[in-house]
Amino acid sequence: MKSSGEGNANGKIILMGEHSVVYGKPAIAFPFQPTHVTAEITDHAYEKLRSGYFVGPLAKAPKSLENIKTLIHQLRHDFSTPPVQITISSTIPAERGMGSSAAVAVAITRAFFDWLNRPLSSKLLLNYVNYAEKISHGNPSGIDAAATAGDEPILFQKGATFETFPINISAFLIVADTGVKGKTRQTVKAVAKRFEQDAQTTGRLMNELGDLTLKAKNAILNNQAPYLGELMNAAQKNLAALQVSDQTLDNLITVANQNGALGAKLTGGGKGGCMIALASDYKTAKKITTALTNQGAKATWIQELGVYQYA
Ligand code: PMV
Repeated sequence: MKSSGEGNANGKIILMGEHSVVYGKPAIAFPFQPTHVTAEITDHAYEKLRSGYFVGPLAKAPKSLENIKTLIHQLRHDFSTPPVQITISSTIPAERGMGSSAAVAVAITRAFFDWLNRPLSSKLLLNYVNYAEKISHGNPSGIDAAATAGDEPILFQKGATFETFPINISAFLIVADTGVKGKTRQTVKAVAKRFEQDAQTTGRLMNELGDLTLKAKNAILNNQAPYLGELMNAAQKNLAALQVSDQTLDNLITVANQNGALGAKLTGGGKGGCMIALASDYKTAKKITTALTNQGAKATWIQELGVYQYA
């Protein structure tokens, strides 16, 4: 055992396929490097958490940190370790559809194994992270765990091994935080209820979202940014029909489109959280972020797509 262990993870962005991914449809996600989390594990007289949200005995941590508590207990139980102190520092905004809960679980699990000085396979990592994600989200598809644990874009399908592929398209992605906490747990539940009440319409919306995702993958592989933008707009229509969007997201999406975006949609669970937009060039991307900030976006990021080039 080492005196301390360290682990890292990125935030993530779902480009296409949120919600339908819960029902077995494909989704595209990628690690979002501008936001990341680091965890450090050291041994301590009692279980202690130090984070931006809470500092003190883990036993007294608020309910919103139950995922961390459960994960630590499981890890300690599986490896019969003494108590630990966990220090978390994160630039991933919490509950904004950027996968902060999964990323924290990835970073903690990596830090724990680093502290134990044991190798950690990706399968075992994802098992622990999905275990923690069940506490956070109820019925997670696993996409957040897979995207925050890796460093490549993925085409993810629940229950299947995911494939990585290069996002190599000449375009810029804008991400904007509404400043309102996303409500993934509630929206996933609400969609499940819709399925019970109207399986036909909900099923059709899900199938269409799955098709749009596969078309988006081809648009990316063929460097068709304007077409990808159209597909994003179409996905947003379906997500709105599933009632997982809201007024704040709709406003920012409209503003992005009015300022030259090729397309825009919510990302992640919805009802708050973040939206994304696509721009053909950096100048337009800047114009869009300025307009979004003027309309109340709490934070914006621009990421050049096409940076993921692997030999
Ligand atoms: O809000 P986030 O970043 O946790 O993303 C949730 C994505 C959903 O498809 C809505 C749920 C899931 O588990 O895949």
